Amino acid sequence: MKKLIVCCLVQLFFINSLFALKITVIGTGYVGLVTGACLALDHDVICCDIDCKKIDLLNKGIIPIYEPQLQELVTKLCTSCRKKTGSIKFTCDVAQSIQEADVLMVAVGTPTDDAGRADLSILRKAFETIAANLNGYKVIIIKSTVPIGTGDTMQKLIKAKSLVDFDLVSNPEFLREGSAVNDFLYPDRIVIGTSSKKAENVMREVYNTWIEEHVPFIVTDVVTSESIKYACNAFLASKISFINEFALLCDVCDADVNTVAYAMGLDKRIGPLFLKPGPGYGGSCFPKDTQALKTLAQDYACELRMVQATIDANNKQRKAVCHKIEKIMHRDLTGKTIAVLGLSFKPETDDVRYSCAIDTIEYLLEKKALVKAYDPIAMDNFQKIFPNITYCQSWMEAVSDADCLVLLTDWEEFKKIPLRMLGTIMKQTCIVDARNLWSPVKIAELGYTLENMGRKY
Ligand code: UDX
Repeated sequence: MKKLIVCCLVQLFFINSLFALKITVIGTGYVGLVTGACLALDHDVICCDIDCKKIDLLNKGIIPIYEPQLQELVTKLCTSCRKKTGSIKFTCDVAQSIQEADVLMVAVGTPTDDAGRADLSILRKAFETIAANLNGYKVIIIKSTVPIGTGDTMQKLIKAKSLVDFDLVSNPEFLREGSAVNDFLYPDRIVIGTSSKKAENVMREVYNTWIEEHVPFIVTDVVTSESIKYACNAFLASKISFINEFALLCDVCDADVNTVAYAMGLDKRIGPLFLKPGPGYGGSCFPKDTQALKTLAQDYACELRMVQATIDANNKQRKAVCHKIEKIMHRDLTGKTIAVLGLSFKPETDDVRYSCAIDTIEYLLEKKALVKAYDPIAMDNFQKIFPNITYCQSWMEAVSDADCLVLLTDWEEFKKIPLRMLGTIMKQTCIVDARNLWSPVKIAELGYTLENMGRKY
């Protein structure tokens, strides 16, 4: 990958002048930053944000999120900029950034509101700023995940405020946190929603490198493109909920869910990915998007029972982890020391949004247990939600003298824990493995007590 990035940078200087576009990305969250940095391999990109503190950090070379390869990519781009022409720039002057661009990419947050709908207030503000600063034809791309029909609403918003010509494009992202740079550089497909041939041609220029690499490039209308994004996330979430429910069934039937998932995955119609049982899906997308899709469908009086069932199964799965802790501790958690390993919603990210660690730790505190937590990267973010639990500097410190070890995130580091050592440093060797990381056979040989998610071997 490192070689590829360097290679791309070298290529950049030869081919840049042929098709470099001026692209402004509005919003420097993980989608905006990754998109901006990756597009800067081919184009002149401005990443802007109303948060000037974040921009200051970026200008000092500090990436405010933990995302593998992103720091390296931005540093390389910036070092090269100093020598040659600029390809990535960070600023909080949003108005100026809009005026300078041919293409605008809106990648701001769309969190869930109290009614379960996507809150579009930040997006609306971004579009109002765009409308106020349109100074010539531009292609305006919605990268944020938005309810079906939002493109049309935003188009009307601009038309009501500006007479300048523009085209609106939906271009959903399919980036997984923790592997977002790789997902951007090697996508399974690129989806474009627009009713304008002119805008389609500009999008072909934006993604020229990928088109030349024969990445499937799907051009459709705006609402279909918006629907594709929700369909993908809801389907992936339903795959996870399916295997999670099946894991609970395997538990009671004494079957092995890992073998079930492996055999299922070999069926080409099913595929092996997203069949890993765990503590329920979390993160910034699946919980929010399944909820928003369900609410949106209800608004159209269209019931999506599969989506509802996916959400229900996920809520049940999060509680299942707590039930397993309760079971292993014989319903007596008062004053017990519980070591929680893993706080981020999945490995390779410091993101704790909708992490199952939040539900689990809330439950443990309610039951008056003492929580000792450790995560390789996410402790600073978690501390903002739970300032009063004990944070440890290593997994070893967390499990020392603990009555129970609860593994919530399958970080690489935890795979290497020498299980034999646990018997010598824990008070009681009770283990709840919510990611099926460890072999139950090995754990039984060591004489420890284990609860996991339907893994038998
Ligand atoms: C997801 C989508 O994958 C991505 O395409 C979209 O654009 C954004 O949302 P992300 O939330 O970063 O990406 O992570 P992902 O790897 O999809 O995992 C989401 C959650 O599902 C995590 O909590 C993860 O632990 C869980 N998961 C995933 C499982 O429990 N089992 C699996 O087999 C896969």
